[in-house]
Amino acid sequence: MASNRGQFSSRLGFILAAAGSAVGLGNIWGFPTQAASNGGAAFLIVYLILAFCLAYPALMAELIIGRHAHANASRALEKISATPRIARIGHAVGFAGLIVASLILSFYAIVSGWMIGFFVASLLKLFGLILSMFLFVLRSSTAPELVHIVVVQPAIWLETFSTPRNILLMSLFMVLTIGIITKGIHGGIEKWSRRLMPLLILSIAGLAIYVLTLPGAIDGLKVYLLPDFSKAIAPNLLINALGAAFFSLSLGVGTMLIYGSYISDDEHLPSLGGWVTATDVGIAVLAGFLILPAMYVALNNGVEIFSASGQLLSEDTLIFTVLPALFNSMGTTGLIISTIFFLLMTVAALTSSISMLEVPVAYTIENTSVSRTTTTWIVGILIACISAVIIVNFDTLFGLVITVTTRYSQPLLGFMFCIYAGWLWRRDSLLKELQKNHPNAENEWFWRIWPGYVKVICPLIILGIFYQSL
Ligand code: PHE
Repeated sequence: MASNRGQFSSRLGFILAAAGSAVGLGNIWGFPTQAASNGGAAFLIVYLILAFCLAYPALMAELIIGRHAHANASRALEKISATPRIARIGHAVGFAGLIVASLILSFYAIVSGWMIGFFVASLLKLFGLILSMFLFVLRSSTAPELVHIVVVQPAIWLETFSTPRNILLMSLFMVLTIGIITKGIHGGIEKWSRRLMPLLILSIAGLAIYVLTLPGAIDGLKVYLLPDFSKAIAPNLLINALGAAFFSLSLGVGTMLIYGSYISDDEHLPSLGGWVTATDVGIAVLAGFLILPAMYVALNNGVEIFSASGQLLSEDTLIFTVLPALFNSMGTTGLIISTIFFLLMTVAALTSSISMLEVPVAYTIENTSVSRTTTTWIVGILIACISAVIIVNFDTLFGLVITVTTRYSQPLLGFMFCIYAGWLWRRDSLLKELQKNHPNAENEWFWRIWPGYVKVICPLIILGIFYQSL
């Protein structure tokens, strides 16, 4: 069965694809801005502990169930259930994950579309600069008007909030996502993650090094690396960091479960999961070295980022105000950096969005006889229609969909995955899954700690988050 479902061709291929899913707008924007508001290094420490102590065990639950069943979340939870009733509930949980993954994609595609917009606008401005120089050499008298029509106007349109712009850019992003998913696991997800992930890591590192040389950057670095424990004991910090860790590792919607189902039986699951967690956390930490210094460089250049009381201004939209202002204040270099930065955000978003779309696509393919290409287009267009509805009713729906999916649904469904792995799946069958090609699994540290952990500690912490968010 596994053979005609598609499989990751190698260990690295899986790690890059799963880390690509995990690393997204959440890490590169969400983590650094939260760190900036919540005591810098203090938040970093809490986040690191939670990522390894809560998110890693929950990730392992999804990977192990997925590889055992070699099926989508609904069917996988059915398969490990001992009674028909538990199986029916399992199916419903998997299906709920599918709906949530689709809804997450519907808002993610809107934000990712904006990233494309800012990328193309920067590219246009660069082109405008070259065009102006060219026209100057030719001594053309129509130069300013021409540049205005060809470059300035479209760039302003792309950077300004409007329904037509949002719909166009969202559709463009969805077409890219659909294009990759139609190519399947090996030729689509793995191939593109392999190409895009190294590009992402290199450009964050390169940009960070550059930004660190600018005046003001060291202040940002200090905030990031010197813990301010007075802010870190704020009541919501723990809960916020927990939610961030969950969203960041793509948990609770069946994404990691379906990626797990494409792992070969030869692989050692605990170390694969460890690599994915470490990469996800590593890139978030690396992005901190870029975003925090960049914020203080912007501050140094006169861009307002803090209110009088010292709080960050509009945390969520800062990326579309502070960074462009920073880039603008840097002249031509700023244009080049801006182009690379928004390309990077688009790439990070794309390796995450494909993992969201794979959830409903895999379910449909495995339950019907429709081909992957047709399924992907139908499901993708349906999700784009939901996005369009959100765009048209932006003020009422956008925030609501984000809250319902990431704050309530993800933790609750993550809780259910832990219950299935910890309480409802027979322990001997679970151990057998880990022992495939690794007969010594029973004596490894993972088996000593993880089963009890996923049974008691993870569900308790997740219930804690859920209770808090209510
Ligand atoms: N982990 C992704 C990010 O950090 C978001 C995501 C959530 C991806 C759920 C897949 C499923 O941006």
